[in-house]
Amino acid sequence: MPVTPISATSNPVRQTPLFASNPEVLARVAEMRARYAKADPQTQLPDVDPRRIPRHIAVIMDGNGRWAKQRGFPRIFGHRNGARALRETVEEAGRLGVEAMTFYSFSLENWRRPPEEVEALMLLCVAYCEGEREALLRDDIRFRWIGRRTGLPPEVLAALDSVVEATRNCTGPTLCVAVNYGSRAELADAAKQIAGEVRAGTLKPEDVTEETIASRLYAPDLPDPDLLIRTAGEMRVSNYLLWQISYAEMYVTNTLWPDFDAVCLHTAIRDFAGRSRRFGGLDESDAANSITSGDGSA
Ligand code: FPP
Repeated sequence: MPVTPISATSNPVRQTPLFASNPEVLARVAEMRARYAKADPQTQLPDVDPRRIPRHIAVIMDGNGRWAKQRGFPRIFGHRNGARALRETVEEAGRLGVEAMTFYSFSLENWRRPPEEVEALMLLCVAYCEGEREALLRDDIRFRWIGRRTGLPPEVLAALDSVVEATRNCTGPTLCVAVNYGSRAELADAAKQIAGEVRAGTLKPEDVTEETIASRLYAPDLPDPDLLIRTAGEMRVSNYLLWQISYAEMYVTNTLWPDFDAVCLHTAIRDFAGRSRRFGGLDESDAANSITSGDGSA
């Protein structure tokens, strides 16, 4: 009996190359490349539909201390290696066509850590800004930071602001670090600003909408994160981007942050791409079922 060849459409594994001929996929990849010439998701992650690559990924980098302890080094050694992982991750994200990544680098709660660790983290922040400037410019990466200015040492503010300014015209992926950041504080700051505008008569209370609040957060021009990655196995959101992650998918890995690399990022994105995002509605197949099961006519 002759063996019927398996067609590309009947075998999901063989469907991968079909992404390449789908006009919507081509348009999405062209859009990614127009923004960043190095974006090449189909080479980097050929098994993932480029339309399913997240635009914005938020990361809670956890496990630096444990990573250092396992090696018998002080905690700051873990943070230094964490900074290296951050750079590698954002470079790979750019090649995948991701538009922005926001990394939780120092929270308002982190001031409670021992003074020597806080000081070392502040010094690391300055060193990171100074040391990365040229590489960011070379790779066309736009640097941003979010957080409260009040409370940060002037040299840290100057270092952060100076890289933001230097990379202002970069059109590649955005690398945003959250420093001296807390999400409740960000919302309180937005509320304070809105209250001031109401008092000044430039905003009416009845005109306050979700957009009014969203536009007064620290980086209103960044899209909301589609994916929130947390390393080191903790299942918490830790006062991070609470407004912005309302519909984000969460991905938790046991990998400690300094070990996070391109392969880990691929695994997280592959997992994300396989999920059905419903935004409170139904996914396509369930929506179709609900119509057909209603009166059977559709
Ligand atoms: C959490 O690990 C990590 C931090 C609080 C700091 C993360 C900072 C960096 C990676 C440096 C990059 C900084 C800038 C500004 C670019 P942890 O210390 O809580 O780890 P543990 O849970 O194992 O103790």
